[in-house]
Amino acid sequence: MKIETVDLIIRNFELSDETDLCEYMLQRVKAEFEGYPDFTSEKARKEIEFRAQSDEFYAIELKKEHKVIGNIYLGKRDFNTRELGYVLNENYQHKGYGSEASKAAIEYMFKQGVHRIYAECAPQNIPSWKLLEKIGMRREAHFRKNVSFHQDENKNPIYWDTYVYAILNPEEGA
Ligand SMILES: CC(C)(COP(=O)(O)OP(=O)(O)OC[C@H]1O[C@@H](n2cnc3c(N)ncnc32)[C@H](O)[C@@H]1OP(=O)(O)O)[C@@H](O)C(=O)NCCC(=O)NCCS
Repeated sequence: MKIETVDLIIRNFELSDETDLCEYMLQRVKAEFEGYPDFTSEKARKEIEFRAQSDEFYAIELKKEHKVIGNIYLGKRDFNTRELGYVLNENYQHKGYGSEASKAAIEYMFKQGVHRIYAECAPQNIPSWKLLEKIGMRREAHFRKNVSFHQDENKNPIYWDTYVYAILNPEEGA
């Protein structure tokens, strides 16, 4: 896949993206809303090798800096559905790039004939669900305390709620 937008290129990862990948993945180690707690710079090589041959992970390259500033995830699910995910380097957040990349990716997927795209996020992750609403996805569910990424001081799971957003392929007349 290769998509060009005003500011970005969304494309397959290349082995030469290792340093950029490492930069934003290390920022996620202590992230509140997603879990990459075990990532280290030593694991970057293996991760970039995996992503370079993946048809689910795509690099977001900022054209003006020729730098990979994050990734789009389009996980394959049953019934011709994809799960959308996204991560941006903290130095490039809140500039519209997450929305720009996600919108272009879902439009591309729909042109390929994908039926439905959904995404999940915590209600506390305001940038994430605002992004989803900005690109036209609709909140379909609010699951109560269904996931746990962290434990409390007594090692009990801390449960979080989940919003589920989705959009159907407009070409199908939905
Ligand atoms: C979620 C994420 C990809 C959003 O990308 P982004 O490029 O920063 O978002 P955008 O600039 O396109 O903004 C999308 C919306 O979120 C809002 N937003 C972005 N950052 C925000 C912030 N820090 N605080 C409040 N609102 C914010 C924007 O104003 C916009 O809303 P609008 O429709 O009202 O204008 C980015 O914050 C990120 O990488 N977060 C860490 C990883 C993560 O949480 N991934 C999702 C797991 S579910």
